[in-house]
This record gives sequence, C-alpha cells and structure tokens, in this order.
Amino acid sequence: MRTLVVSALFVGWSAGFILDSLVSKLDQNVCFGDLGCFSTAPPFRSVERPVDLLPKSPTEQQIKFYLHTRESPSTASEEEIQVGSGVGSTHYSGSRKTKFLVHGFTHHGHRQWLLNLATALLNKEDLNVIIVDWGHGAGIPYAQATANTRVVGALIAQLIKELTLVGPSLADFHIIGHSLGAHIAGYAGERLHTLGQITGLDPADPYFQGTDVRVRLDPSDADFVDVIHTDGSSILQLGFGTMQQMGHVDFYPNGGAHQPGCDADFMGTLSHTVWAAVTQLDTLAAEGAVACSHERSYILYTDSVSNNCPYTAYPCTSGSEYAAGHCLSCTGTGCSEMGYNSKNFSARGSFYLDTASISPFCEFHYQVNITGRNNMDGVITLVLQGTNGRSANIPLMADNEVHTKGHIISKFIKVPNDIGTLTNIALEYDKTSSVLTGWAYPDDWQLMGVSIFSAEEQRMYTFCAYGKTLTSHKPIAMGLTGTC
Ligand SMILES: *[C@@H]1O[C@H](CO)[C@@H](O)[C@H](O)[C@H]1NC(C)=O
Ligand SMILES: *[C@@H]1O[C@H](CO)[C@@H](O)[C@H](O)[C@H]1NC(C)=O
Repeated sequence: MRTLVVSALFVGWSAGFILDSLVSKLDQNVCFGDLGCFSTAPPFRSVERPVDLLPKSPTEQQIKFYLHTRESPSTASEEEIQVGSGVGSTHYSGSRKTKFLVHGFTHHGHRQWLLNLATALLNKEDLNVIIVDWGHGAGIPYAQATANTRVVGALIAQLIKELTLVGPSLADFHIIGHSLGAHIAGYAGERLHTLGQITGLDPADPYFQGTDVRVRLDPSDADFVDVIHTDGSSILQLGFGTMQQMGHVDFYPNGGAHQPGCDADFMGTLSHTVWAAVTQLDTLAAEGAVACSHERSYILYTDSVSNNCPYTAYPCTSGSEYAAGHCLSCTGTGCSEMGYNSKNFSARGSFYLDTASISPFCEFHYQVNITGRNNMDGVITLVLQGTNGRSANIPLMADNEVHTKGHIISKFIKVPNDIGTLTNIALEYDKTSSVLTGWAYPDDWQLMGVSIFSAEEQRMYTFCAYGKTLTSHKPIAMGLTGTC
C-alpha cells in the first residue's frame, strides 16, 4: 500500500516536471521597437487561457487613430493622428480633455455605435475624441484577437505620452473600451501613471475572468475605473462579458448577466466546455450574429451621455439581494449613477439598477409595503399617481400568492416613466378565481397600511389606508397621510 502511494506521488511529480520543461520551451517573445517586448509566459499563459499566442505587430493590425472634434465631428471630416508624428495640423487641442473610444472583438473603427458615442460626447462637452481602429487585429480567432489587445494598449499609451507634450496632463485622458477594448484600456493605463479614467463597457470574460491583474482591466489601471456589466452569464452560456468586479465602481444593470429585450440570445447553442464555447464565439462572430446583451453596455453608456435618465444605481452585495428589494437605500455606502456621471460620485463598490429594454431606458424604483387585517388570496393591482402623471397598472401579486393577516406584502417595482412626486394611489383587489380555495377567503380585505419608498427620491410615502376596505373587483383611491 505504502509503496503504491509513493510511486504514485513520484509519477505525479515527474509528469509535472516534464510538463513544466515542455511549457517553458513554448514561451515565445516578440518585440516591437518602442512598445517593448511581449511574451507568452505567465501570467499570460494560465489555465484561463487554453491558447496563448503572440500579438501581431501594430503594422499588421493596421491600428489607426481617428480624431473627432466639434470642428471635425463626422466620419467625412475625421482626421488621422499618427503615433510619432505629433498632432500636426489636426484640430487636436491640448486645452481640451481627450476621450479614446476602443471597440472589441470583430468590430472596427467605423462601427456606427462609435460615431454615435463620439457625437453624443461632443454635443455634451468640447473634447478631443479619438476612435481607435484595430479592426484588422480584432477578427477571429478569438485567441489571436486577445493576444493583439496588448499591442493596441501599448500603442495608445505611446500616443497619450506624445499628446501630453502639447499640454494636457494624464488626468485629462479617459479611455472608454468595449469588450476586448476594456482590457486594451487596462493595458494602456498600466503603462501610464496615472491615467485619469477608464470606462469598461462589458469587459470580455473568456481569457480574462480570473486572470492576473496584469492580464485584465483592474482598478490600478487608472485613477478612476468604472465598469458596466451587461452580459455576464457564464461563457458556457456564451456570455461575452464578465461578472467579476474590475473597477472602483462596477454597475450591474438588470443584474448584469442578461438584458431585457435580448431574450433569444444564442440560447439554442449552449456549449459544455470553455474550449467549445470559445470556438462557438468564433463561429457566431464570423456569422455576424450580434450579442444583444453585450452590446447593450455601449447603448446604455451613450444614452447616459445624451439623455436625462438619472441611472441612479444602488449599492448591493449581490444581484439576488438587489432583486429582493433590499438595497434601495443610499444612506451608508451611498448611491452612484451609471454611465457618464459616475465619476461625480464618491461611493465605491458594486451597484445595481434596472433599465427598460428600449430607449428611454430609465426606470424608477419603488418598494411597496401593504398590510391587511385578514387573510387574503388574490391579485393586488396598483396605480401610482404623481405630479407628472400616472403609472400603468402594476400587478403586485400572482394569482396563487396568499397573504396571511398581519404580514407585510413587500414588493419591489419599477416604473418606466418619471411620474414625479407621489400624490395618490389606486388599489384593486381581485380575489382568487380558484374554485378550490376561493371559498376560504372573504370578498373584502381590510387594509392596515400602505407605504411606498421612492428610491430615486430616497423618500418614504405613507397613504390613507388604515381602516379602508378593498372589496374584490372594486378599485379605490387614497391620498397621502395628512390629507386623509
Ligand atoms: C459632475 O462634475 C462636474 C465637475 O465637477 C460638473 O461640471 C458636472 O455638472 C457634474 N455633473 C453632475 C450630473 O452633477
Ligand atoms: C417594508 O417593510 C420592510 C420590512 O419590515 C422594511 O424594512 C421596509 O423599510 C418597508 N418599506 C416600506 C416602503 O415601508
């Protein structure tokens, strides 16, 4: 027995030894002038990365920088800035702040969303906006695109160093990157001490989640790193994005894994290993199948620049705590705002919010508590009336949800329009239609209290419910306590 164990250990050790020496022979290295050298050695080789390749050169990737300013806002008027040649006769101005926009896997610098975001930013602020085009490096296979990001990041850092010579400080630069572009922003930031801001829009998960901070976007890459997670479902379900916290603030709209209106996303093509999933990503990308939840991150960000949605986001330890309505308070940690305004808030950590499936994406969050004196089984429907209008009918309970006397019915609801300061509510009770249990409950439900917490306003409203009777199928309205 003892001999067996020892020999098994020995075999294990020698196999490990052989593997180690084999792998170190696989370490490769490539150098690109001022950008320095890139090696496939750890931390870039790791269990998270089934294939570890060398990046392609900037020339092979044909990396381009397109400048947009208020003087040159459109694609037709874009100006190219070349690393090593300074800003020349372009409209780049050292007295303005600069934002870089970086696309991800399979995209290129002339995708419409980049121009939409550039336009929105220029309408808001007088900026230099530089769109980074690394489309020739961003194609399939995914493993090669992943490797190429390191060179793109290094080249952006090089350009930023050059641009600081005409005036701005590193704090005046902000890189906004989507998918692989988020990690590119991380590589650029890592070379600059200290870059002002990085915004990661659904940072890519495959080959990055769980890796060393030198391999992925992390808070040390800039003075302020904000991240929006929209497609964080597992890579095995072909989620492109990561749920891992990678910034000073991480936003998880709609829980961060999956976005409303994106329901048909690849659900028929679940794979069972990381390897198969990455291969499937390549296939889907080659077919031009879009990842709706993954792309929602830049749609929401652009909307946060051009619209007036508050995008208030609530601090919470998990998506399930948030979904249960336990995280709507801004006292303590403090709340934040997702997107363009996030830098104005001092709160740090993970933040949650709901958005709608289409523009306007704003949703207004409320917690509703109702208590009754007797048992009840049925549906409660609520309408909120405010100074700006009223909500649609909001069903609060499912038909088979039973309420026991004295307990609080507590529901977390979202309203897509800003109805302003609450003034009245209407409630309807529809007793269960079940012939089996319906006899056990009365037609009347005696109310004891209704209170509503408006998360956007951080304000508690209580209504004139005490002693009122809800008769099945007969809606009643009530005002605020103080007006009863
Ligand atoms: C954010 O801060 C900047 C600079 O401090 C200020 O100009 C801007 O109005 C603020 N935005 C919001 C929404 O508070
Ligand atoms: C609802 O009830 C819960 C549990 O008692 C409480 O923590 C919360 O503040 C209440 N919210 C409202 C709107 O009354």
